[in-house]
Amino acid sequence: MELTYRPRRLRRTPALRSMVRENIVSASDFIYPLFIHEGKEIEPIGAMPGANRWTLDTLIGEVTRAWDLGIRCVVLFPKIADSLKTEGGEECFNENGLIPRAIRKLKKELPEMTIMTDVALDPYSSDGHDGIVNSDGVVLNDETVDQLCKQAIVQAHSGADLIGPSDMMDGRVGAIREALDDEGFENVGIISYTAKYSSAYYGPFREALDSAPRSINSKPIPKDKSTYQMDSANSREAITEAQLDEQEGSDILMVKPGLAYLDIIYRLRQESELPIAAYNVSGEYSMVKAAAAQGWIDEKAVVLETLLSFKRAGADLILTYHACDAAKWLKHE
Ligand code: PBG
Repeated sequence: MELTYRPRRLRRTPALRSMVRENIVSASDFIYPLFIHEGKEIEPIGAMPGANRWTLDTLIGEVTRAWDLGIRCVVLFPKIADSLKTEGGEECFNENGLIPRAIRKLKKELPEMTIMTDVALDPYSSDGHDGIVNSDGVVLNDETVDQLCKQAIVQAHSGADLIGPSDMMDGRVGAIREALDDEGFENVGIISYTAKYSSAYYGPFREALDSAPRSINSKPIPKDKSTYQMDSANSREAITEAQLDEQEGSDILMVKPGLAYLDIIYRLRQESELPIAAYNVSGEYSMVKAAAAQGWIDEKAVVLETLLSFKRAGADLILTYHACDAAKWLKHE
């Protein structure tokens, strides 16, 4: 054949391929999510092989391991005892709660590691929702935002670097920004869950925290989070959310879940100049782990290809439970 262009010319050797490679993944792109609990023992999470609920003491070792692998940010999620859960989730702003103590300990022992927190009521809510549910089963917006501001301030006061509102209440980014500034935390950043979809992919995470919506005392509790998290069918709406978060002062925008919503990452990349994070959520992790355990896929290759897909779509940062494994594999590539 007489061809002018033969794209295979640049694919011929590893050296050539590396020269024209458009995207790379590195450990400093990762944000490593960690579960913690009050217990004395590390507890494995059934639906997330390789992930655990860490104790306050063992957390330090795991975060040190992540740091040594090149990871520069962790996000903490607490499993709260049922006895501390209330309708208003007040435990979320207890200065001596699990998260504030974990932040203080980490900041003391590993001051350089960036600490991100999650702002929402679900780990603390007896109803298992991100906001306060009234007696008619309605998740209240403005009342919830008041609680979230208190939660964010306690986290910032404990030493958090990045506050991550994951609740999807309207106006929460602006309210949290103002509350932080009023308290003198103008250098604490906000990484908002901007386009967070109402997704079945969060199932394993809700097992890890025992935080799924539940009805006690015959109060009507919505079974899912579809009155505040976004409808999976929508993409233009993600742009509206991004514009609002940007106007309200978010420093980083997040898309969640990541893998099933790569188109949303791509669209936000066109619309905003802010850094974008992709959350490679629990269900996405569990699917890979399950197939790998069966010997049906090559775990390392699939994970690295998946992480690269977030970068190619336009994400700068990736929240992933694979962070330590991937960092290790990247080191030895
Ligand atoms: C709670 C929260 C969820 C996740 C992060 N923060 C679950 C939910 O909204 O129900 C999901 C993370 C994952 O699945 O990995 N506000």
